[in-house]
Amino acid sequence: MTLCLGIETSCDETALALVEDGRLIAERIATQVDAHSLFGGVVPELASREHLRVLAPLMDALLADSGRSLGEIDVVAVARGPGLLSSLLVGMSFAKGLALGAGADLVGVNHLWAHLLAPALEREIVFPALGLLVSGGHTQIYRIQSPLAFEVLGRTLDDAAGEAFDKAAKVLNLPYPGGRLIDELSQFGVPDKTLFPRPYVNNTNLDFSFSGVKTAIATYVAGNLHLRAGSMDSGLDGLLAELKGRGVLEELAVVCASFNWCIAEALRIKVERALDQSGGGVRSLVVAGGVAANSMIRSVMTELAAHRGLEVVLPSPGMCTDNGAMIALAGWYLYSAGYKHGMDLEAIPRGQKIPWDYCQMES
Ligand code: KG4
Ligand code: ZN
Repeated sequence: MTLCLGIETSCDETALALVEDGRLIAERIATQVDAHSLFGGVVPELASREHLRVLAPLMDALLADSGRSLGEIDVVAVARGPGLLSSLLVGMSFAKGLALGAGADLVGVNHLWAHLLAPALEREIVFPALGLLVSGGHTQIYRIQSPLAFEVLGRTLDDAAGEAFDKAAKVLNLPYPGGRLIDELSQFGVPDKTLFPRPYVNNTNLDFSFSGVKTAIATYVAGNLHLRAGSMDSGLDGLLAELKGRGVLEELAVVCASFNWCIAEALRIKVERALDQSGGGVRSLVVAGGVAANSMIRSVMTELAAHRGLEVVLPSPGMCTDNGAMIALAGWYLYSAGYKHGMDLEAIPRGQKIPWDYCQMES
């Protein structure tokens, strides 16, 4: 039996989890969303201070929940990047201290790979798989040969899908991170497919670009200021009542649904293209990351997979966003295959390639 602790501090969630032989034992998460929403985005300085403040009490709570002790942990897995460097460093230092204190091994985990493996805690993933990672910081297509073999096939050239959703929400005066609200509002309308251009699809590659559609919605809203939401103080119901009261709910819903449709279409077209180019062999389609919680994207991907005879793997909403369980699971896969790191493990900020620099254990 191998007990793996997962530590996630790459952005604005502080999360810990224990995974034993691929099975989730316990998890704890402290979100900082409220602290950052005041500023309309994640403030790195605040994020790292908050990680430092909550990590130790969260660890105590995790051990109490699980009935396990520090000495029982075999391996400490930590998200080493990509992410905000100052936030990663807090998690990294905590991981190293714990590993030394508990006499456990240390393994650094690629946060993006962990997102794509997360659904394996809920159901089996059949490999080889095509992976679509859609989060607040990344949009990428992968070929996943096994839980340890990932190849990037396409990536965004500018903004991530989640960033585009959050920007659309911001221009509509919805609170950060607003992707989920665009999704909620879309439920009240049908897309007008002529409203915004489908971003970066008239080419033959597998990359994405969402900056154009982001500008398109900002320009549209600037010319239709009545669409901007009033106060969100009384939650979603209050917002809906306010929009209904002003008679703009339907119009706003069409704008949100149209924007959502453009993003879903860009993702669909590139995933179809990746499958066409993959030369067969792919058995499942894994969609992961915060934006994988989006209803339209989930139904588009489910339909696409069914059409191609592939299994679609969609994490439950809690498994889509950043969490400690996915780090613990990815760490457990690596450790079980004989990979670990020394105390010289480094954090890798966003934009830099994550090296394959494990020490191979003797079997
Ligand atoms: O993976 P994640 O938790 O954090 C990163 O690692 O980036 O993703 C957060 C992103 C945010 O941009 C948020 O607005 C978006 O996921 N998101 C959604 C939905 N739920 C979360 N975007 C569209 N529709 C949703 N239902
Ligand atoms: Zn993430």
